[in-house]
Amino acid sequence: PSITYIEHSGTEHRIEVPTGRSVMQGAVDNNLPGIDADCGGECACATCHVYVDPAWLAKTGTPGEQEASMLNFAATAEPNSRLSCQIEVSEALDGLTVRLPEAQH
Ligand code: FES
Repeated sequence: PSITYIEHSGTEHRIEVPTGRSVMQGAVDNNLPGIDADCGGECACATCHVYVDPAWLAKTGTPGEQEASMLNFAATAEPNSRLSCQIEVSEALDGLTVRLPEAQH
């Protein structure tokens, strides 16, 4: 499946991410700037924060309980915020677009 990551600057990266990888791993595997993923996908750092394109929210689903509480720490969380390590790539997400926050710490 191909995932489009849009940096805060507007630069777009269309990346093929294997099924079963997370949206975060797809970015890290390709050295994408803007996703730090300090905790390595444990849902414990919130540095893999992305904004899901509203058209895709129904397919990505909503944050789990721990994810929602981590998102409370993300300074710029919005209703369409997700932690990208918690989104598993599948064929259903082919074409998914996510935007990266301005600063990811
Ligand atoms: Fe740490 Fe996603 S990589 S919360």
